[in-house]
Amino acid sequence: MSDPRPIGVFDSGVGGLSVWREIARQLPRENIICLADQAHVPYGSRRLAEVRALSESITRFLLAQEAKIIVVACNTASAAALHHLRRTFPSVLFVGMEPAIKPAVERTDNGVVGVIATQATFQGKLFASLVERYAGNVRVLTQTCPGLVEAVEAGALNTPETKSLLQKYLTPLVEAGVDQLVLGCTHYPFLRPSIEQVIGASVAVIDPASAVARQTARVLTQRGIKANQGQKACRVFYTSGDAANFAAMIERLLPLSGKDVEARAVRWRAGRIYLAS
Ligand code: DGL
Repeated sequence: MSDPRPIGVFDSGVGGLSVWREIARQLPRENIICLADQAHVPYGSRRLAEVRALSESITRFLLAQEAKIIVVACNTASAAALHHLRRTFPSVLFVGMEPAIKPAVERTDNGVVGVIATQATFQGKLFASLVERYAGNVRVLTQTCPGLVEAVEAGALNTPETKSLLQKYLTPLVEAGVDQLVLGCTHYPFLRPSIEQVIGASVAVIDPASAVARQTARVLTQRGIKANQGQKACRVFYTSGDAANFAAMIERLLPLSGKDVEARAVRWRAGRIYLAS
């Protein structure tokens, strides 16, 4: 049996695309719908309760488009809302993101790892519980990075301003001796070349996107709801921001050409999302 219903993916903005590309690579036959809530980006400086309410409404929208599983491709929304979403929608399958503390702890040689993420991600209970469960004797250094999400949204991946922000945030971690750097926000993988320039070859970068895609595949297989042979995958990208700008960013950030990118606008009204007419 082949289940053609789409995988629903969401984030505050273009960060979800770093998870999207892994899902599309590992599950090329799946239809995927991806929503970027660019009307509210960044989520990282918002109150957890607000991110929870936004995440719940986005989930309702994706379910209305028949999503068979929801991938919360946003560390901030996962930290703020995953627990709430699972309670609110008990029959819906969710896959969330969490900062990859466990692999970082397993791989470190010198016992010092760094995590970069938004303020909201570090505030959620999820982060504290990961550190408590996995860190053991390993030192986990955290760093928020105000301005980086905005830089990625603006397409400023390689500008002097973005590089100097990276210098400012990452140099203290390097000087403290981290040998693993966890990308705890789905926007950051698009800065990876610049990040690697700043931290040098002796620090390994960990991006959990491929593990999240593997987990998505595992859940679909266990439930018997994968899409199989014989269909051409359809990929639709929704944004609550400007659809033309979003389409241009998708083309820039993903291995997709314009003809394969269908970007549609959605609008928020009274706390709900509607397709823009
Ligand atoms: N990409 C998101 C994350 O993984 C959200 C960043 C933001 O909107 O502040 O945390």
